[in-house]
Amino acid sequence: MATRVTIASTISSPPSFSQCRKHCSLNCSFNGLPETSTIFTSSTFHYRKRRSFKRLTLVGVSSAMANPSTVLVTGAGGRTGQIVYKKLKERSDHYIARGLVRTEESKEKIGGADDVYIGDIRNGDSIVPAIQGIDALIILTSAVPKMKPGFDPSKGGRPEFFFEDGAYPEQVDWIGQKNQIDAAKAAGVKQIVLVGSMGGTNLNNPLNSLGNGNILVWKRKAEQYLADSGVPYTIIRAGGLQDKEGGIRELLVGKDDELLQTETRTIARSDVAEVCIQALQFEEAKCKAFDLASKPEGTGTPTKDFKAVFSQITTRF
Ligand SMILES: NC(=O)c1ccc[n+]([C@@H]2O[C@H](COP(=O)([O-])OP(=O)(O)OC[C@H]3O[C@@H](n4cnc5c(N)ncnc54)[C@H](OP(=O)(O)O)[C@@H]3O)[C@@H](O)[C@H]2O)c1
Repeated sequence: MATRVTIASTISSPPSFSQCRKHCSLNCSFNGLPETSTIFTSSTFHYRKRRSFKRLTLVGVSSAMANPSTVLVTGAGGRTGQIVYKKLKERSDHYIARGLVRTEESKEKIGGADDVYIGDIRNGDSIVPAIQGIDALIILTSAVPKMKPGFDPSKGGRPEFFFEDGAYPEQVDWIGQKNQIDAAKAAGVKQIVLVGSMGGTNLNNPLNSLGNGNILVWKRKAEQYLADSGVPYTIIRAGGLQDKEGGIRELLVGKDDELLQTETRTIARSDVAEVCIQALQFEEAKCKAFDLASKPEGTGTPTKDFKAVFSQITTRF
């Protein structure tokens, strides 16, 4: 897809790339092009007799801009989903972002743009419009347990949780994810990134008893369904999620919940969001499933080379 940038400023001589950047910095997106972009004009620059020109139309740029991927993130109103949606929007040279949320309220929460669709993943038909025409899907939907009222932390003890009727993990994390995978496969989507959770190798993991939801069991079933779907996939089983700054820790990947036996079992939501997007960029991330955590801030070297991270992973499930 060609990107068309129309510049309506007056420049007195044929501009070089750097001149255009200088002249147009105030009023056109040309300034946002990477320095390395290959730029060519639709015809040539248009000049007037007095050797100035009024309109310059640039068509075609670097390969990334020439072919941005349309990426849908579901659960876009959720805590990790909204970071992914924001990051995709910020990288508009590479991605055309779409979000799927469940309610008008969630849509407003993330800015209310037209690229945010409303649908319920338990109802396959309702998500088809959001999925039509996308290249990649990032699944960040999940059943969300609610705390039973009446818990008083000052009295000690543990809060109890429940799932609302119809919103148990079986309906959301299994049927809901399956609906998304089916719809994406039918629409010819080229890659699906699914965020799951560490802990799924142990049926007795305490998370399974939360609200009698067996949440890890249903998540795992959906992961297996995706791995068997024939659509290239990346399954990210995150450790305990934290609302902390991303990009400042060394990421750790593992398999079979081995990281749960160590001290490094958590990860910032922002880092998970980044890994979701990076997974779209590297073949090394495809058809892989892995656990994800990070070293504590200040230890290790903050991860920058995601290709190297994905290359370490050898597990397909
Ligand atoms: N919490 C942890 O420590 C932890 C650890 C490891 C992995 N994980 C997993 O990591 C992922 C991201 O977690 P998070 O805490 O960022 O997520 P979150 O804030 O709980 O967001 C979940 C999203 O799913 C959406 N959703 C639920 N049911 C839906 C439905 N029927 N149709 C459409 N959307 C629906 C919710 O929409 P609404 O906003 O409308 O409710 C919400 O936006 C989840 O899969 C989670 O299980 C979590």
